[in-house]
Amino acid sequence: MSYFKVLFSAIALTLLVSCGGGSSTPQTPAATPPAAAATPSAGEKVYITYCVACHAKNGKGIENMYPPLAGSRRVNGPAAPMLAVIFNGLQGEEIDGVKYSMAMTPYRDILSDEQIRDVTNYVRTAWGNSGSSVSMEDVATARAKKPGA
Ligand code: HEC
Repeated sequence: MSYFKVLFSAIALTLLVSCGGGSSTPQTPAATPPAAAATPSAGEKVYITYCVACHAKNGKGIENMYPPLAGSRRVNGPAAPMLAVIFNGLQGEEIDGVKYSMAMTPYRDILSDEQIRDVTNYVRTAWGNSGSSVSMEDVATARAKKPGA
């Protein structure tokens, strides 16, 4: 008798486990932090690869070294001045009364127009920013404009 009882519980348990409460959501891989958004956008991926070391994941930068992009006037303003910084870099310029000791890398030869459009649009809408959307045409115009011109 007890043999069948054990067998029955084993089958019941197997069914319970394999049904998994009816959820069809695939398990996220262990490497993904639970709080991360489902899939980072193309622009966020570029940001994480090329910008995060200086400007930080939360866009707040590092005091007196790297300026914040969150709430930045240039980031929330017209596209051209922001794109110019990304294409040509920036050094020794005071931003809102703060002089940053480090330099911004020029990305002209590092990123494609598409990557620059994507990362610009990511930064312009992340962390409460509300910059307008930047097009491939805006990016091409900014690339054509040589530094200092
Ligand atoms: C090596 C560190 C470094 C990296 C990497 C970097 N930046 Fe910067 N960035 C800076 C510094 C330093 C400044 C300020 C320079 C100054 O004030 O002269 C700056 C300034 C800026 C500004 C102007 C901010 C303002 O409020 O005027 C923007 C926009 C910007 N960076 C975007 C980016 C983006 C997008 C990336 C990635 C593609 C990136 N940065 C990567 C260091 C960096």
